[in-house]
Amino acid sequence: MLAVAVLAAGKGTRMKSQLPKVLQPLAGATLVERVLASCRNLAPQRQLLIVGHQAERVEASLAAVAGLEFVLQQPQQGTGHAVQQLLAPLAGFEGELLVLNGDVPLLRADTLEKLLDQHRRSGAAVTLLTARLTDPSGYGRVFSDGDGRVSAIIEHRDCNDDQRRNHLINAGIYCFDWKRLAEVLPQLSTDNDQGELYLTDSVALLGHATHLEVADPDEILGINDRIHLAQCEAVLQERLRRHWMEKGVSFIDPASCTLSEGSRFGRDVVIEPQTHLRGTTTVGDGCHLGPGSLVEDSSLGAGVEVLFSVLRGATVGDDCAIGPYAQLRPGTVLDKRCRVGNFVEVKNSHLADDCRVNHLSYIGDADLGANVNVGAGTVTANYDGVRKHRTIIGAGSKTGANSVLVAPVKLGEGVTVGAGSTITKDVPAGALALGRARQVVRENWPVTSPAAGESAAPTPPPGSP
Ligand code: UD1
Ligand code: MG
Repeated sequence: MLAVAVLAAGKGTRMKSQLPKVLQPLAGATLVERVLASCRNLAPQRQLLIVGHQAERVEASLAAVAGLEFVLQQPQQGTGHAVQQLLAPLAGFEGELLVLNGDVPLLRADTLEKLLDQHRRSGAAVTLLTARLTDPSGYGRVFSDGDGRVSAIIEHRDCNDDQRRNHLINAGIYCFDWKRLAEVLPQLSTDNDQGELYLTDSVALLGHATHLEVADPDEILGINDRIHLAQCEAVLQERLRRHWMEKGVSFIDPASCTLSEGSRFGRDVVIEPQTHLRGTTTVGDGCHLGPGSLVEDSSLGAGVEVLFSVLRGATVGDDCAIGPYAQLRPGTVLDKRCRVGNFVEVKNSHLADDCRVNHLSYIGDADLGANVNVGAGTVTANYDGVRKHRTIIGAGSKTGANSVLVAPVKLGEGVTVGAGSTITKDVPAGALALGRARQVVRENWPVTSPAAGESAAPTPPPGSP
């Protein structure tokens, strides 16, 4: 039997934040979500989360996780005190207890499997994860002999100068034999610099302790402040970019781009500098994204080009070209080969194949048939101050520059709208619609140039309006 306990009750004073530390986000997921994800493969029988500081907020954020038991630690008197809270809920439990620090978010699932495996084979009372760090400051130091037996863990602040020269650190990840741990937990003392009950002291009390040193120290980075948060974000981003480069994605300037774990790419995608993918986003074969673009919760077909643009909640078909400087907002669906160009915003609208909206337009709550050409500056006036209404434009229609289509309004197929028109009534298929003031021309209108120092206003001829 396996139980997993995640320590998540601490305040995270060093973060200097209103948000509990374990709820700090890292590439789109909170620290505690990441920690829980790292042990999912092990399929534990019990999953317990120790909460304390802003417990309700932490619990609410994880309400959707099935089978998670919340254990309250109030007040928070250290990591040993946190694990003491398990004595009641785990009374009678037999098997291993895997303890994970809620602020160690980059652990790989297979590392935990190895830890569990080594623990089961060695018969030790506890097996802990360790790493050798170039800069071990802040971490507890692990003292072990050549055979990998651990005698003690001493916190950085409790070490003398000599002990601090030991670079083998405690990752805060332990596999305990629960029954043996339960026996020593009541013996922990507060005899340390912080006056807290340290879980690390259980190691010396348990007698038989061994450790597993991780090959990649990045995995066990613990987050105590915002500098650590930025370091972990960098590690995670590097992992994600490497993963996709190995699968056939090119980055022109990898370090300037960020990805979410929910981003998926086809082959031969090129990502230019300063381009960011967030949420659940899929990008088809041969797309060219950026420079300077943000694509969030969107789906792109094959061969799509995006240049200096923002896409959120959009579905874009094969061979579309977006930008420069376009914004596709949620509910935008472009079929194939559409062009949405300079300074164009599209929201909650469907554009069928081969539509072109090339310059300076707002298309909101509209349905465009295939092959519609939207002239420069065309706007769908979708809001009457109370409600939103739809604009429907039939296939093959053209709107002239600066047209305003006042919704609800429907244009049939093959309609032409004259430039500068305000269209308020439906237009039948094949018609030309004009809705603008008739041009007035007055012949022989005097043009007078003002003498120096005089007003430019001409004297109108008699009978002028
Ligand atoms: C701890 C370890 C240290 C190790 C380091 C690895 C102890 C005494 N020290 O130090 O050896 O190198 O992690 O990152 O364990 N928490 C509670 N209740 C409490 C206190 C803390 O649930 O009363 C939780 C925190 O929310 C956090 C985790 O335990 O998720 C670790 O606490 P933290 O204060 O960050 O311990 P470190 O000083 O990092
Ligand atoms: Mg910590």
